[in-house]
Amino acid sequence: VREFHVPVLQAQAVAYAVPEPGERVCVDCTLGAGGHAEALLRAMGPAGRLLGIDRDPEALRLAGERLAEFGDRVRLVHGNFEDLGELVAQNGWGRTDAVVYDFGVSSMHLDRPERGFSYQHDAPLDMRMDTTQQVSARSIVNEYSEREISRIIWTYGEDRWAARIAKFIVAARQRAPLETTDQLVEAILAAIPQAARRGGPHPARRTFQALRIAVNRELEAIETSLPQAVDVLAPGGRLVALSYHSLEDRIVKRALRAEAGAESPRLRILTKKPVRPEDEEVARNPRASAGRLRAAERLAARPESTGPFGGGSAA
Ligand SMILES: C[S@@+](CC[C@H](N)C(=O)[O-])C[C@H]1O[C@@H](n2cnc3c(N)ncnc32)[C@H](O)[C@@H]1O
Repeated sequence: VREFHVPVLQAQAVAYAVPEPGERVCVDCTLGAGGHAEALLRAMGPAGRLLGIDRDPEALRLAGERLAEFGDRVRLVHGNFEDLGELVAQNGWGRTDAVVYDFGVSSMHLDRPERGFSYQHDAPLDMRMDTTQQVSARSIVNEYSEREISRIIWTYGEDRWAARIAKFIVAARQRAPLETTDQLVEAILAAIPQAARRGGPHPARRTFQALRIAVNRELEAIETSLPQAVDVLAPGGRLVALSYHSLEDRIVKRALRAEAGAESPRLRILTKKPVRPEDEEVARNPRASAGRLRAAERLAARPESTGPFGGGSAA
């Protein structure tokens, strides 16, 4: 690892998650290099505790080193935040005052060519965040139908050349299985007409993003996790979610609105519009430019909603 992941919108995320120091518990669902986790611990002060989750064993190892100074105020677990309720029940601290998400990959993933996330380095086609799972970019590209590959590139990459790229991938793999990022880039370049390639981002960018989202089932995990975050939060607790593209942000926005607008709402939205980074942050860290933060507060369950006919959750 050349350097640590540079956390995005950190001051804002921490201010929403930890409105004041004290005896609090934060759950960081996307520990990564532990940047946000460290800032959350400092903001809570010496009585604060944190449960950190990541699906990438390598991230857990690095964050563990970084957070060692906090001793037994920190617990780290390997897991997918789609199982948040269970992970918190088994490893949590009995109460949860904040749940924080910082979606997507970390710069550690992108800076490690051998993990196959980057179209700029030749590497085995992999893109798994959790290196213990089966499905990888290699299996999708070589085993899924042309139609399914096209759907993935269209839905998660929003690439207008999706159908042609899928066609070229399938033609290429009929000659020999695609094993490396370079071979995939080559198929993509062949599919997109020269004229359409000039200017703009690299032609492979959208396809790589799409495959990454599909390999790691990223959007499904977010959708499954958010209601569990609301379940585990104590009244007054905070939910903070940082997205990096519109597909993620849309899911967060809808989930928060559904909770806040329900008949017995469990959340109050704190960010009418998503919080965006200042120009100064984007200048320092271009990755921040896409960042959007949304936050909400867990409402106390109303007394009538805890009764046998209330239907509300008092968790
Ligand atoms: C953007 S990085 C987080 C960076 C971190 N906030 C920091 O300041 O260093 C996202 C991390 O979330 C992890 N991740 C992504 N999806 C996950 C999921 N469904 N469950 C658990 N961890 C996930 C990735 O492995 C990655 O390490």
